[in-house]
Amino acid sequence: MLNLNSQFSNIKVLGIESSCDETAAAIYSPSCSTFLEKIAKQFKTHKPYGGVVPELASRCHLETVSELANAVCSDAGISLKDIDIVSATAGPGLAGALIVGLTYAKSLAFSLQKPFVAVNHVEAHMYAACAETEISFPFIALVVSGGHTIIADIYDENYYKILGRTIDDASGEAFDKGAKILDIGFPGGQVIDNLAKKGNPKAFDFPRALMKNGSLDFSFSGLKTALLYFHQKNPDAPLEDVAASYQEAIVDALVIKTLRAAELHGRKTVVVGGGVSANSRLREKLAEKANGKANIVFPSFPLCTDNARMIAYRGFSLYNSRGEDSLDVDIFPSFKYN
Ligand code: KG4
Ligand code: ZN
Repeated sequence: MLNLNSQFSNIKVLGIESSCDETAAAIYSPSCSTFLEKIAKQFKTHKPYGGVVPELASRCHLETVSELANAVCSDAGISLKDIDIVSATAGPGLAGALIVGLTYAKSLAFSLQKPFVAVNHVEAHMYAACAETEISFPFIALVVSGGHTIIADIYDENYYKILGRTIDDASGEAFDKGAKILDIGFPGGQVIDNLAKKGNPKAFDFPRALMKNGSLDFSFSGLKTALLYFHQKNPDAPLEDVAASYQEAIVDALVIKTLRAAELHGRKTVVVGGGVSANSRLREKLAEKANGKANIVFPSFPLCTDNARMIAYRGFSLYNSRGEDSLDVDIFPSFKYN
């Protein structure tokens, strides 16, 4: 076990992320709360297919992961052997993609004889904002990504309870599939966000599911189908108005349920994470509707979408609280929590 006293001296934590279509390596220095990061985005590879192709994703991770880890060390003016803790995403995500990053990180830890920590990607999103802002526990977390939409009550670094989750599509998936239906580009979330800035969010009325009976669960598949039928019937409707109205339906569900969770559980802080937390309308409307009753914290953009900073930060926090993991640890493609 490393000696973490004296303000963590000059400990350097390497984080590796490869759960989907971003390969990333980051170095976190807890003593000065700084990050260095190198990311290889794959969207040009997947763009012709309108979605992520798992086999191509794995191949891209394999081609870049070692290069990125070396490059981030070189930016830090160190070599790999100067790393103190190696952490990597073990799940959830695409199996082949996870295997590449996790195997690289475990091999590195083994060859350097340094501690290894396996990180849950969804939890890394949950706590990402804590990497740059001092946030007191407990708080409500909203994780909104391409694969997950979760509201959780966070008691501390290790203990949380899931209060609500999507029963079908994730919110990021709703953005991506919506953009595909409208044929306006890939990746969908950012395209809809940009287009919606020029549109009227009240132009068309799209359904908000599971809003009654106090449920904290989400459902976005009916909304996606409603968009499909609307677009077939109204192919000439202004796309910016359609995008703004569709986005508003997603954002309303997220805002209303998250603030409902905070009120029900008496939490004064709401922390958002995951790719959809980059959405400008979500950022605006959550703050507006909280109206000072809850403190709303969004991570900065590099910590919203998939990144290795949050993996290194979470790796350090887990090491600090429960020590290293065995190198026998395996990937887990589906979300699981203790
Ligand atoms: O967290 P993330 O990078 O990867 C996963 O863990 O899934 O999230 C990716 C999701 C995608 O569905 C993408 O469309 C969405 O985040 N996204 C956005 C925005 N930027 C990324 N959704 C809405 N507005 C954005 N500005
Ligand atoms: Zn993610």
